[in-house]
Amino acid sequence: MTSEVNMKKIAAEHAAKYVQDGMKIGLGTGSTAYYAILKIGEMVRSGLSIQAVATSDASEKLAMEQGISLTPIHQIDRLDLTIDGADELDDQLRLIKGGGGALLREKITAYHSERLVIVADEAKAVAQLGAFPLPVEIVPFAYEWTIRSLAQLGCSVQLRRKPDEGLYVTDNGNYIADCRFQEISRPEELSSRLGTVPGVVEHGLFIGMADQAIIGCRDGTVRLLH
Ligand code: A5P
Repeated sequence: MTSEVNMKKIAAEHAAKYVQDGMKIGLGTGSTAYYAILKIGEMVRSGLSIQAVATSDASEKLAMEQGISLTPIHQIDRLDLTIDGADELDDQLRLIKGGGGALLREKITAYHSERLVIVADEAKAVAQLGAFPLPVEIVPFAYEWTIRSLAQLGCSVQLRRKPDEGLYVTDNGNYIADCRFQEISRPEELSSRLGTVPGVVEHGLFIGMADQAIIGCRDGTVRLLH
């Protein structure tokens, strides 16, 4: 009997080995970071002492359920390590994030971390970014105009909705515009251009932020990208 390999779990549990006593840790969001939080919770319950911050309300709730106490941000100068997922990553460790809607807090947390380690299953590793629609967090005011400006960058834009058809609202009270480019050949240039669109709070291109990626593979091994 063959049991299916949980690629997300093996990547996340590998990353959890980097967490050491006394560290300040950023907890990511999503179905892969979930396993890292579970593992870190287990380690905390066995005596590990860390300070932690979460990148979303969902991860905050999960962390607390696991017995990981969260430290107020103002009490932490800089994080040692953040473990987070990604929707796509290329071999230069450029990422698309935000499929779970948490990109703003994730980017702030990553920026203030000494190390960002990405955990993902092998399907997320791509030669070129862009098949996954790029999430862009936008303010509700005049969102129709913001969406129009985003479309002028060469993508088709869909305002994210909840399954019940209402608009998806982020933990920060904003909307998410999912921008389908198909191919993003110059991520750095697109990142700069997105930053010039009024109404854009943050976007899901993470460039020059990740230090390492741990890819869980179908054969049960992990592949490390630096
Ligand atoms: C959350 O907003 C995202 O950036 C996630 O980190 C990303 O979508 C990866 O999620 P999964 O691990 O669930 O695929």
